[in-house]
Amino acid sequence: MLDQSQMPIVSALKQSAERSHAPFYAPGHKQGQGASNLLKAWLGEALFRADLPELPELDNLFAPGGIIREAQALAAEAFGADYTHFLVNGSTCGLEAAILATCNPGDKILVPRNAHRSVIAGLILAGAMPVFVSPQYEPTLGLALGLEVEAITRTLTRHPDIRAVLLVSPTYHGICSDVAAIAQVVHAHGIPLLVDEAHGPHFGFHPDLPTSALAQGADLVVQSTHKVLSAFSQAPCSTGGGIRVDRDASRPLCN
Ligand SMILES: Cc1ncc(COP(=O)(O)O)c(C=O)c1O
Repeated sequence: MLDQSQMPIVSALKQSAERSHAPFYAPGHKQGQGASNLLKAWLGEALFRADLPELPELDNLFAPGGIIREAQALAAEAFGADYTHFLVNGSTCGLEAAILATCNPGDKILVPRNAHRSVIAGLILAGAMPVFVSPQYEPTLGLALGLEVEAITRTLTRHPDIRAVLLVSPTYHGICSDVAAIAQVVHAHGIPLLVDEAHGPHFGFHPDLPTSALAQGADLVVQSTHKVLSAFSQAPCSTGGGIRVDRDASRPLCN
């Protein structure tokens, strides 16, 4: 068990921000010295002092070996994952990386019709071929529901060369699929289950919420910690476990 009260990135950032030194590096506002007085009065000078680049003590997201690695280990434990990658550029880049990590050009991947546009971008980047499956539809509410296990089973039988299955759970409207049952079917075909859990990063943190996709057997899950939890914009994460997805390849900066 790690000490979950630790905040390695915040502690190091605070120390660097408060260290008296001449900042011969970007950004050009030089810890706020060149920033607008209006902005400083509004946002606070501390914000500008903490706007720092990848100084040696602040680690490097390309190859985390210090505080970022420590923080990712804490996050992985909190999410119940084997590993966590911190992301920039939203869940979009995590979903793109998930597809790039599992599909070579021309490979088939099962994708729900109501997938987010970032999944389409991932398909284009990877050169992967989507096999679309339509979710159930609720006509009274006009809502797309989850993907049925039977629809996935049928599709995998018809396309035995599918290399991965991507699920959106919960959807934008909060509809969850039966991830556990789907994971069983997908794993029986020897392929990984990727889950877009952009709207469900909080699921693992309260017993009254649906069970998280990871706890239900998903191999790689992309979560918008900035949408539902308290992260800054563009700062989601992807979490994974097991051996079906290459841990390093699923880190966006590797792709
Ligand atoms: C279901 C779903 N997946 C992925 C994304 C992409 O998230 P981001 O905006 O963090 O890139 C969104 C954004 O709204 C979404 O609703």
